[in-house]
Amino acid sequence: MRSVPPQPLVDLGLLARRLLHAAGDALLPGWALAWQRSMGIASTQVMAAMADLGVADALAHKKSTAAQMAPRVGADADSLHRLLRAAAVHGLVRLDRRGRFGLTRTGRALRSDAPATLAPWARYLGLKSTRDAWGGLADSVRTGAPAFSRVHGSTVWDWFAEHPEEERLFATAMRSLTEFDGPSLLSSDLWPEQGTVCDVAGGAGTLLAAVLAARPGLRGTLVEAPGVLMQAEANLRSKGLADRVELVEGDLLGTIEARADVYVLKNILHDWDDETCARILASVAATMPARSRLLLVEQLQEPNRPHPFASITDLQMLTQCEGGRERSAAELRGLLAAAGLTPGRIDRTGASALVEGVAG
Ligand SMILES: C[S@@+](CC[C@H](N)C(=O)[O-])C[C@H]1O[C@@H](n2cnc3c(N)ncnc32)[C@H](O)[C@@H]1O
Repeated sequence: MRSVPPQPLVDLGLLARRLLHAAGDALLPGWALAWQRSMGIASTQVMAAMADLGVADALAHKKSTAAQMAPRVGADADSLHRLLRAAAVHGLVRLDRRGRFGLTRTGRALRSDAPATLAPWARYLGLKSTRDAWGGLADSVRTGAPAFSRVHGSTVWDWFAEHPEEERLFATAMRSLTEFDGPSLLSSDLWPEQGTVCDVAGGAGTLLAAVLAARPGLRGTLVEAPGVLMQAEANLRSKGLADRVELVEGDLLGTIEARADVYVLKNILHDWDDETCARILASVAATMPARSRLLLVEQLQEPNRPHPFASITDLQMLTQCEGGRERSAAELRGLLAAAGLTPGRIDRTGASALVEGVAG
């Protein structure tokens, strides 16, 4: 398993990076910095195009010119050179004087065989449906209303149900993010050693699989929508864990029936407004036996402290989800208490925190 740097060290690294960036920025006029930020769309699309074409895989073992690579990835050689030259500006590849490209440490994250590949996430961000919802950001800020349903006429979840290939891509992207987050989450002692862990809306079962693999005394239950459960079954089977996990079709916004010692809601509440979070938590609380525990896994966003990850995903939630947002520790504890659960410990393990609620 990947070793996890302690959280204070990561925080220190992020602070050092911010200070170094600020020092470098001080050398340039504000206009130039603002222009560069305005082209952020290029950064997202360059990564999405690289992932779509499989460029990182083509560069996995040796440097290559665009002309050598073009037939392999099905691209026009000149356009591929221009794409990758821009990718070099973003630090994804290096370009040498002979026109050969090589992957950097950052670019390696786009390889499909990277331990937690970012290729599906990059492709998901590049989808027309995702981009069009981001395009509604200014209107969302004017009205406070989510962009996705306004732009597409349905919530992102209904959209996925009608576009199974996008649903699969999103579930795969979430799986990679969980694979990256998993080791730091698992380092928490809030996980039990014995009993049953139920991951509610647990995607393809990536977190559950990691928890069960690390704690042989545990069994699991996965509650999900039917399309995602099929992916989960294949995923759990491939990891030899299918016989330790019960798959339960369930509706977050309806009734959930699953008996467990510890329940998990990972990256779920940030998809929804407070009212819907209250409904979800009420459904989970209703099935929780006395003294069982719920672990919320969420990024923490304090109101007046910009965070390099959470403040950006907060806008991802504003544009893609129905009232979704990143919340502070106090806001999450407030939601738990309103659902009749006693707020317990908070463990900041990495990019995300575990926030505990105990059933009475
Ligand atoms: C942001 S993803 C998080 C997945 C997983 N917990 C993770 O962190 O990787 C949200 C999940 O909620 C599921 N979901 C959305 N609406 C649902 C509903 N009404 N009932 C059950 N699951 C739902 C989706 O299928 C998706 O897997």
